[in-house]
Amino acid sequence: VAGAVSNEYQGWLHAFCPEGNMKDRAEELLRRAATTRGLISLAGGLPDARLFPRRALGKAFLTALEVRGTAALQYGWPEGLRDVREHVADRLRRRGANVAPERIIITSGAQQAILLSLATLGKCGSVGVDAETYPGALAAFRSCGARPVELGERADAYYVMPAIGNPRGLPMPERSKTALLERLGRERTYAIEDDAYEATAFSGASPRPLLADLPERVFHVGTFSKTLCPGLRIGWLVPPVRLAARALKRKQTHDLEANGLAQALLAEYLAGDDFDRRLARARRRYQGKAELLCSSVRRHLPSFRFDVPRGGFSLWLESDLRLNELELLSAAVNEGVSFDLGSTFKVTPSEGLSLRLCFSAAASADLEPAVARLARALRRVTRRAA
Ligand SMILES: Cc1ncc(COP(=O)(O)O)c(C=O)c1O
Repeated sequence: VAGAVSNEYQGWLHAFCPEGNMKDRAEELLRRAATTRGLISLAGGLPDARLFPRRALGKAFLTALEVRGTAALQYGWPEGLRDVREHVADRLRRRGANVAPERIIITSGAQQAILLSLATLGKCGSVGVDAETYPGALAAFRSCGARPVELGERADAYYVMPAIGNPRGLPMPERSKTALLERLGRERTYAIEDDAYEATAFSGASPRPLLADLPERVFHVGTFSKTLCPGLRIGWLVPPVRLAARALKRKQTHDLEANGLAQALLAEYLAGDDFDRRLARARRRYQGKAELLCSSVRRHLPSFRFDVPRGGFSLWLESDLRLNELELLSAAVNEGVSFDLGSTFKVTPSEGLSLRLCFSAAASADLEPAVARLARALRRVTRRAA
């Protein structure tokens, strides 16, 4: 149905489940949430589908076929389409990273770029990450046999989100960035810089990426998923020059090339639409929703602590409550709301209850009712536990 966003796409498909014995129960709950009518999803980290430029993308699709002809449907180079790489290089140049388009590999989303970085590094025993981080990266590291450890520990490689982090929606402090850069040089290790949320920062100039300061030690990862739409599955990787040939070989082995038709469509879209204006509009929309969610949490869930996000799609809530998160999710789904389980973001389990609430995909008018439902679920579970 045109314009409809089914619940199926609002949580389950993009949710990462906890590992181990909680997995089956969590999966069952997420599936139940996905099929519950009227449920408001605060899960998944999805962009607002109302912002997808459907008409401009449709036009770009037709132009791609008309102008590029069969080339848009043919096999292409493993590194991707020149026009898209030039666009990425231009954005990076504006942020202080002088990267030639030749150095950029177009990937199937940032997720593949993360995996590709690790595959390029080869054997990696451990990867240092923030105490709370993107579950998809944790899953990727584990699938390659690498153990995620907290950033304080020495590791074989590091994974960070310096511009805007997931789940907190905050930039990495300048002194942590400096310390990391020093460390990479001293230990002769590499960092994967995940820039997925960079363009969602609510205000201020786009920050200088780590790539600009230490290109020989940084795998820089980006994506159009958060700014345009994840359905295209287009992201990118800028590997260190010394490892570029190996990274490209790995990319070709994985899937030959990123979706060529999606790249052609994207190239025409970028040429024909004012992407920067759209980004500015999206940032305003997300900031407004973030403010609404913060005020709703202050009103309905006063026992939770959080930092006001400065970008990204979510709010990270922490509390000292000793409650079972799956019990809370189950009660929440019964009340008609879902959220992301805090444990899936953590490297080291902790006692208190934490959760991620996304403000990005839900309608603004649904945010406060969703938090009120969550508060009702919390009261129910607290009463049961007493
Ligand atoms: C921090 C971060 N990196 C990467 C990704 C994956 O993005 P993509 O859709 O480009 O694979 C996500 C998606 O949620 C994310 O939150």
